[in-house]
Amino acid sequence: MVAVPTSLRSYDELDGPPGLPLLGNLLQLRFDHFHLILERWADTYGPLYRFRIGPRKLAAVSDPDVIKRMHRERPDMFRRTRSVEAATREMRLKGVFSSEGDDWRRQRKIVAMALNTAHLKPFFPKLQVTTTRLLRRWERAADAGTTLDLCRELMRFTVDVTTQLAFGIDFNTLETDGPVIQHNLDKVFPILNWRVNAPFAYWRYLRLPRDRALDHALDELEGQVDDIIQEVHRRMAADPSLFEAPTNFLEAMIAAQQAEGIGFSDADVFANVCTLLLAGEDTTANTIAWTVNYLLEYPQHCARARAEVDGVLGSAPIAEAIEQTHEFPFVEAFYNEAMRLKPVAPINAMEPLQDVEMLGHVIPRGTVVMLLNRRIATRDENFGHAATFDPERWMHHDDARTEPHDTTTFLPFGTGPRFCPGRNLALLQIRTVLSMLLRNFDVEFASPRQAVEEQLAFAMRPVNLNVRLHRRVQA
Ligand code: HEM
Repeated sequence: MVAVPTSLRSYDELDGPPGLPLLGNLLQLRFDHFHLILERWADTYGPLYRFRIGPRKLAAVSDPDVIKRMHRERPDMFRRTRSVEAATREMRLKGVFSSEGDDWRRQRKIVAMALNTAHLKPFFPKLQVTTTRLLRRWERAADAGTTLDLCRELMRFTVDVTTQLAFGIDFNTLETDGPVIQHNLDKVFPILNWRVNAPFAYWRYLRLPRDRALDHALDELEGQVDDIIQEVHRRMAADPSLFEAPTNFLEAMIAAQQAEGIGFSDADVFANVCTLLLAGEDTTANTIAWTVNYLLEYPQHCARARAEVDGVLGSAPIAEAIEQTHEFPFVEAFYNEAMRLKPVAPINAMEPLQDVEMLGHVIPRGTVVMLLNRRIATRDENFGHAATFDPERWMHHDDARTEPHDTTTFLPFGTGPRFCPGRNLALLQIRTVLSMLLRNFDVEFASPRQAVEEQLAFAMRPVNLNVRLHRRVQA
């Protein structure tokens, strides 16, 4: 994005929803529905509009070219918002997600290496063990007729996977009764979402019950994460070759801590362990849950996905080799379509590091700009009949298309230098769990059926997605 010439209209000349003195649009907002409100305003005020939260001036953009350029021009022209950095620092969670500049570059390098696709094939046997644990857990639930909160179930799976791949530790929360680390992780995202957007940092002066609950959760989390870090320290002390050739993210972080010139502190290590736990937990679990919701909504597509899985897995209950998980073109089309309509990050927020031009306006340095990522993938000019759930659209060859299918506007994992480094791990988990589910269970909404709704708690989750599983009667 080019720095600004004159002759442009100002931020104040942008259209936007009328607000109140002092409060701005605060009373019209609900932060757990923030994305829906911003998308609705875009219908009225166009691809770039302004609004206020108390004294803070914000803008929202849904022009695909501007959105893609903002993603690409990080970290030099745009940054994540200062409020994300401040809120995560206060929670002791300022890691790769909320760092900027060189600080971010150093951390990103280690995360990207550790989550690199090359690690996924050797990791697959462990993923199979964890998937089998989920299968057994769900068989027990099916036999007992238990109603399952699908997101919570899946978060046990995703945390177990992340801790094994990134730290070399098998938490096995899938087979743990009683409190698990997810109870503490659960408290973080909703409050982070609130604090990042809040007009005033009241919690620095007054602790409400929810702030005290968060403090308690963070204290417990600190103990749990310290245990992980100490275990990895012991492992490395027993086998010093791991300093030269670390086998996972946490070993690489600790090795870098000891290496000259990198300068990671214990706080950086702690924050990044938490960052990976948080970044890998809700996102992947919610994406699988949204996909299952669509499987339940569209039985004909579900039957086709199941036939595809049966054809590949044969009599095996789960994928027997990583290669098999790449042999599900319709399942892949199905979850892509689910992510197009229900991305777990429907919006994200950035700030320009200098005054920038956007669509004929000057957006001053430091203005929080909300990027409406879902909106661009749900416009008819980018995806034909965009509001329709149609996995088939992902199956066509490009030369056979009669409708728009602009995959550059499909950004469930972001794009540019800060795109999600966990993407391939996430997709592997999604394919492995969906194929296991389709192969082994019939699923139905629990009764009484409740409307499944979107709720933004940093990541967007389906609320009320309660299901009953039945062991599949094999022909
Ligand atoms: C379906 C699952 C997932 C989705 C939809 C998702 C989505 C995203 C998105 C939208 C971003 C921001 C990208 C940007 O700013 O351009 C992001 C960042 C990130 N994700 Fe994911 N993610 C998923 C799973 C994971 C997993 C499994 C991990 C690791 C265990 C992970 C680790 C991260 C990290 C560390 C960042 C910060 C990157 C940076 O700032 O440089 N994510 N993810």
